[in-house]
Amino acid sequence: MAYPSKIILIGFMGSGKSTVAEQLAPRLGYTGREMDSIIVERSGLSSIPEIFEKHGEPFFRTIESQVAQDLRNVTTAVVSTGGGVVTNPSNIENLRANGGLVIFLRTTFETICGRVTDISSRPLFRDGVQARALFEQRASVYEGHADLIIDTDRKTAEDICSEILSHLELRS
Ligand code: S3P
Repeated sequence: MAYPSKIILIGFMGSGKSTVAEQLAPRLGYTGREMDSIIVERSGLSSIPEIFEKHGEPFFRTIESQVAQDLRNVTTAVVSTGGGVVTNPSNIENLRANGGLVIFLRTTFETICGRVTDISSRPLFRDGVQARALFEQRASVYEGHADLIIDTDRKTAEDICSEILSHLELRS
């Protein structure tokens, strides 16, 4: 049996999705696809905060859903999602289509606070109380969508990649 055609990394802001995708993709011979970067490119603006400021979160979510739809037929890719991709369940359905495996990088809020140093680039992390509420609200949603859960506290991106690869070996 072969590896899944597509790996989708989900999890809260600062859970390490982009870094893990960047390191995991070449180890599988897959292409890394960063949804946030694709969204910014497609918006014609220069950053996520600018999208939120000029057009608001709903506009961002609309482009996010279009990007998820476009990734439906993509294969041999490791997709790193934005933390809010789970707010629209059809995003996950599109991303998982055609043999995708959804992996939740589970991280405690304390670890996330240590990792998210640049809050200016994350509009939904600027207020700590709201960020914690969002974290608590989404925790079970990520779990519900996950085919595989990897706990990432006190692990490097390399550790996480190796753990994912071991799981893939076992499944294949
Ligand atoms: C968001 C997470 C961000 C980005 C946007 C919204 C969220 O991505 O998509 O700021 O709703 O959790 P990261 O998870 O890569 O920070």
